[in-house]
Amino acid sequence: MNKLFAANWKMHKTASEAGQTAAELLRLVSGSLKPGREVLILPPFTALAPVAEALRGAQNFFAGAQNFYPQKQGAFTGEVAPGMLLDLGAGFALTGHSERRHVLGETDEMVGQKTAFGLESGLSIILCVGEKIDERRAGQLAAVLERQLRAGVAAVPRDVQPARLAVAYEPVWAIGTGEVAGPTEILEAHALVRRLLVDIFGAAGMQMRILYGGSVKPDNASEIIALDNVDGVLVGGASLKADDFSRIVLA
Ligand code: 13P
Repeated sequence: MNKLFAANWKMHKTASEAGQTAAELLRLVSGSLKPGREVLILPPFTALAPVAEALRGAQNFFAGAQNFYPQKQGAFTGEVAPGMLLDLGAGFALTGHSERRHVLGETDEMVGQKTAFGLESGLSIILCVGEKIDERRAGQLAAVLERQLRAGVAAVPRDVQPARLAVAYEPVWAIGTGEVAGPTEILEAHALVRRLLVDIFGAAGMQMRILYGGSVKPDNASEIIALDNVDGVLVGGASLKADDFSRIVLA
């Protein structure tokens, strides 16, 4: 299973800035990327075309989207359909990111609809799950992960190609805070996610990637990526500069 290094640029960068950063990243990394590693850039919608263009033809580099609406087309003002993303060269999309759950009010049910519809439409999906600090303190880690994961994949066909569905564990308290989860916390959460994936998808659950996200930086990436059941990282702040993110990808 290839390790996935994903850059979530959130609401940062204009189209031209994003295209330049993607080209710079490619220049810094290509030729040195270890075998078995893949790089994914998730810019804002408005920057997808220049990022896809910058990465065109680069082996193991992909563009993706941070969000989409689970309908083919229609009267959904302000929304973007999976087919529009695929057309721009986005092969992946996130669902269930904590900012969409907790800032924009997406429910477990909506995340489930998006995950199933995105896969059906031809996107590969990274379903994000993670507990808030009060939930962790209340001993609810396992319950929250199980609820979010089961709801997230409720309508996903059980024979989905395992390479097309990944889960990102992103503890909400570690996102953008500089407070990274420790190895014990990451190992525990990823083992829980792995058990759930196998329970739901059988042997295919062993082949689905589980990414860690939350304050991943150049100086902690190699330790995190080496942990059991960590098949990649989903990076926010430290992915915005090509130099920082290249050091994570090459770690
Ligand atoms: P940071 O790396 O900035 O903590 O963000 C993590 C994240 O939300 C990636 O999706």
